[in-house]
Amino acid sequence: MGMPFAERRAALMQAMGPQGVAIIPAAHEQVRSRDTHFPFRQDSDFHYLTGFPEPEAIAVLCPGRTEGEYVLFVRPRNAEREVWDGRRAGPEGAIVRYGADQAHALDAFETELPKLLAGRQTLHYTLAEHGALDGPVTRTLRQLREIARRGAQAPAAIEALEATLHEQRLIKSTGEVALMAEAARISAEAHVRAMQATRPGRNEWEIAAEIERHLLAHRMVPGYTSIVGGGDNACILHYTENNQPLRDGDLLLIDAGGELDGYTADITRTFPVNGRYSGPQRALYDVVLAANIAAIDCLRPGRSVGSPHEAASRILAEGLVDLGLCDGSVDAVIESGALRRFYMHGTGHWLGLDVHDVGRYRQADGEYRNFAPGMVMTVEPGLYIAPGSDGVDPRFHGIGIRIEDDVVVTDGAPRVLTGGVPKDAAAIEALMAQR
Ligand code: GLY
Ligand code: MN
Ligand code: MN
Repeated sequence: MGMPFAERRAALMQAMGPQGVAIIPAAHEQVRSRDTHFPFRQDSDFHYLTGFPEPEAIAVLCPGRTEGEYVLFVRPRNAEREVWDGRRAGPEGAIVRYGADQAHALDAFETELPKLLAGRQTLHYTLAEHGALDGPVTRTLRQLREIARRGAQAPAAIEALEATLHEQRLIKSTGEVALMAEAARISAEAHVRAMQATRPGRNEWEIAAEIERHLLAHRMVPGYTSIVGGGDNACILHYTENNQPLRDGDLLLIDAGGELDGYTADITRTFPVNGRYSGPQRALYDVVLAANIAAIDCLRPGRSVGSPHEAASRILAEGLVDLGLCDGSVDAVIESGALRRFYMHGTGHWLGLDVHDVGRYRQADGEYRNFAPGMVMTVEPGLYIAPGSDGVDPRFHGIGIRIEDDVVVTDGAPRVLTGGVPKDAAAIEALMAQR
């Protein structure tokens, strides 16, 4: 695949034009407890453009600049800190190993920045997003304006990165799709293992451990906090306590995915703790599955980004009317908002370096845009019948079901990356029968 970072920087600089300049900061370490930190995760924009793995760095891209278009500010080498915290590339490594045209230690940022911004018309920088960095950036703008009468020019406009970098990130390259396919493949294997490990009397945290062990053993980490919810815990959309026992007769909903080189999978499966769906569970499950399949089929070039939700909502509403959970016509159930009682989230989101990835869903006029090849989206319809739901047959109470796949828009049919774990109820029962 080669190193894609230079190509991505070139594409961004092309989109900004010769009068633009961009500042893209790395992530910072986050304190977990006193002087220990959460595992470091690089900022997605910064990773996409640089591949530079260290915290605190800042990239500046200046199209056409003779002294160099790609300038990196990095932590300086420091023998003592490196003994405690790990290796640093330093400015020299930033050039030699990461392809920067120029590199400086971080403490030179504010003295170098005026030279990089002077004469440019538009600064591409997401203000109010990077905390303390707004200070030096806005001070530099002010300083440039003050000396403007001596011929320097300060950028007149500041633009967030949505219109440029985030639209670029929305369309995945062949190499990115290959990474996402691999992340999805291993994550699907992890879900298979979870199905094989589940039985009454085991506990949510043990099944979470099965999933995460498989990810870690493949040099991956969870791309988001795993949701492992037995019984009516599945009706809590962001349930992450994962601290309850699994009971015979309940379903288990698992929403978990691993991240590989920054790209995450996002998979949900819902299966019976004892290996057999009950009648009411199966009835609702098959409705959600039909919605999942119909929604996936919408991910084709030229179709509206809103169409998977429309298709899924229709099938879910039909199912709820058929099973007696909703009254009235299917149209009325959708239009009145009655459906939202049992289906209160969207049907999918962009997927990539971020689990809820960047890229617009709508055009400037507010209408949904259309799908194009290279977009990757989740498809995740569900039904959640909260315990004690008034007016609902008690046999359905406490059932929560979601089925989530990761899907690439291609020139032709949608490409499902997460087919390695079954979703057909009979196939899940067959897999679990082999435990
Ligand atoms: N796992 C987060 C989501 O499904 O959106
Ligand atoms: Mn999702
Ligand atoms: Mn999910």
